[in-house]
Amino acid sequence: MNKALEVLASFKARFGTGASVYRAPGRVNLIGEHTDYNEGFVLPAAIGFSCWVGIAPRKDRKLALYSGNLGEGREADLDNLGNRGSGHWSDYPIGVAWALQAAGYPLRGADLYISGDVPLGAGLSSSAAIEVSTGYAMLSAAGHAIDRTKLALLCQRAENEFVGARVGIMDQFVSCHGQAGHALLIDCRSLEYRAQKLPAKVKLVICNTMVKHKIQTGDYNVRRAECEEAVRKLSAALPEIRSLRDVSSEEIARNRNLLSDTLYRRCRHIISENKRVQDVAELFEHGQVDGLRELMAASHESMRDDYEISCRELDVMVEIAGRQAGVYGARMTGGGFGGCTINLVDAEQAEEFQARVSADYQAAIGVRPDIYICEASQGAELVETAAENLPKVSR
Ligand code: GLA
Repeated sequence: MNKALEVLASFKARFGTGASVYRAPGRVNLIGEHTDYNEGFVLPAAIGFSCWVGIAPRKDRKLALYSGNLGEGREADLDNLGNRGSGHWSDYPIGVAWALQAAGYPLRGADLYISGDVPLGAGLSSSAAIEVSTGYAMLSAAGHAIDRTKLALLCQRAENEFVGARVGIMDQFVSCHGQAGHALLIDCRSLEYRAQKLPAKVKLVICNTMVKHKIQTGDYNVRRAECEEAVRKLSAALPEIRSLRDVSSEEIARNRNLLSDTLYRRCRHIISENKRVQDVAELFEHGQVDGLRELMAASHESMRDDYEISCRELDVMVEIAGRQAGVYGARMTGGGFGGCTINLVDAEQAEEFQARVSADYQAAIGVRPDIYICEASQGAELVETAAENLPKVSR
């Protein structure tokens, strides 16, 4: 059964009515890690794994949320959402409702059935997928038009302030704006973006180390605080800078004495990574893959040695991938500390790559990895409109 029909059937079984169904995808980042909150550049693509939401309005002011994955429900009162999560999965949709209402989008009470297939804790943005899909659904159910960039920013705000993870804008943005067959080159300062067609012969192969990554555990927020501290210190010599986006590699080299060794290396990662993002986008612009391998390898090394967000399993996975036939480039992807690698692989050799990497990783680490062969997919969308929710047409 297709997923929308499955969500409709489950919604009916749970809440007894029809529903409209929305979908928002997870993402994989091709290059540009931790650059988003430094107002730099990123190059992610939305992927085929999504969070699906069935929604129908209610007469009262409640949100009745039900997770099909966990088989668990939770209710929230739209007039009393609080302003802080409690570590529960429902923090994401409730946080989004909180952020939307605080930004001047009054919501209606609604029943929501939520079901996702984005692997959890794998660094593929299951959080952005639940935020954007429920945000899109709640806005639509309350009759608001969708401004995708605003929705992305408000979902980010929910995650920053309600959930407590100080993430950048990349995941929510690409979940909203993703385009099939394309990665998005996003300028995280201006939020201008360009859809970059991926070379036709390339498949996105995502290798899950099976080491769970958890953004709330602190390391992510520590990296962000380190970047802010570096900007404060560098400002003594470079008063015009606002973020690491404004600093060149010559400038950090010249002002190295202002930074501890750790802060210097953090800056070196961000500054060199911004350049690599632009170089990769430039290659894709010309439909090329020559040089990709070196850029992705340099990105991985920079994350491993300078930003220190890799782990043994990620390093082993990248090393194994690098030995296979048909690989144009491999690196860890996402926040780090576990999760997945992204591999750009020749379409015709993707399945063989999958089988070989799986066997080699299992031999090295003793765990069977999940390996997904993906394509860049479309961003958030309405999938099914319930007939009873359509506006009445007067004749
Ligand atoms: C997580 C965050 C993003 C970004 C990446 C690292 O996915 O949600 O904002 O910072 O980590 O690039």
